[in-house]
Amino acid sequence: MHVIFAAGDFNFVQEAPAKINLALQVTGQRADGYHLLDTLVTFARHGDRLGFRASHRDEFSLSGRFSPLLADEADAGDNLVLKARDLLRQAARTAGFEAPPVHIHLEKNLPVASGIGGGSADAAATLGGLMRLWGIAPSSDTMMAIALKLGADVPMCLVSRPLIARGIGETIELLPHFPSFAMVLGNPLVSVSTPEVFSLLARKDNPALALSLQMPNDHAQWIEAIKGLRNDLEPPARTLCNEIATLSQLIETQGAVATRMSGSGATCFGLFDHLEQAKAAAASLHSLRPDWYFQATETIKGDA
Ligand code: C5P
Repeated sequence: MHVIFAAGDFNFVQEAPAKINLALQVTGQRADGYHLLDTLVTFARHGDRLGFRASHRDEFSLSGRFSPLLADEADAGDNLVLKARDLLRQAARTAGFEAPPVHIHLEKNLPVASGIGGGSADAAATLGGLMRLWGIAPSSDTMMAIALKLGADVPMCLVSRPLIARGIGETIELLPHFPSFAMVLGNPLVSVSTPEVFSLLARKDNPALALSLQMPNDHAQWIEAIKGLRNDLEPPARTLCNEIATLSQLIETQGAVATRMSGSGATCFGLFDHLEQAKAAAASLHSLRPDWYFQATETIKGDA
């Protein structure tokens, strides 16, 4: 049965924007194996969508292009949305509040395990939606602890604004003057294992991200800065997934002013000067590779 997400059926709807690592540099490794990174991150106006409503029992439903890939884990109660719900409920209980049952709907528009933080964004949106539905506001320390337990990218997805993240993602600096970019996201629909990509890194002691947080809201200047940066996870991801090289080349030939892989891949983005160009590029990429995922979008600007 094809389920349609009817936003009006829910008390609250929360967007879960795609996270794009415009640059990512691996600077070290912690004793527990997690890698230290410096990453320049922005968020798209395209992503998953979640609905929340009070219910007589906990329920979880799915729709959207990529929802079939999640059906089994959702049936097994193993999805980051459910883990986020349970951790927030536990924190509420510790604070003396018994959170009532909830129906959560996830419209899965983003490819799964694709380096644009779909699962992390869904988890962050679940925390945001349930705080509203349940009328609770845990401390920022509690929220950070819950977010980090769910994944290294969840704290930045809670912010969902242009930022630089360091550590494993827990140290966040906002970029209030960061501009919006027209972008094409592309994915060959091959999932890439994040731990495997990290394990194939040639070196883990790269220099820190050299960026001034004081840079003005100047589109051209930022494009030049971004062009000069890199994603340290791209070379190992390319050895695991041949399609990344082809994908990146295809986006480049559509006239992107900068092209790079996001996160641990396999999604690559292309930056364009105008949204109309990005839309035209996505349409022609789609006709070249109808079996792949292409999406034109704009990114969210800093909120200065
Ligand atoms: O935190 P998350 O569950 O998203 O990470 C998935 C896996 O990716 C981790 O288990 C770890 O192997 C690897 N990882 C890492 N360093 C990071 C983030 C993730 O090594 N900063």
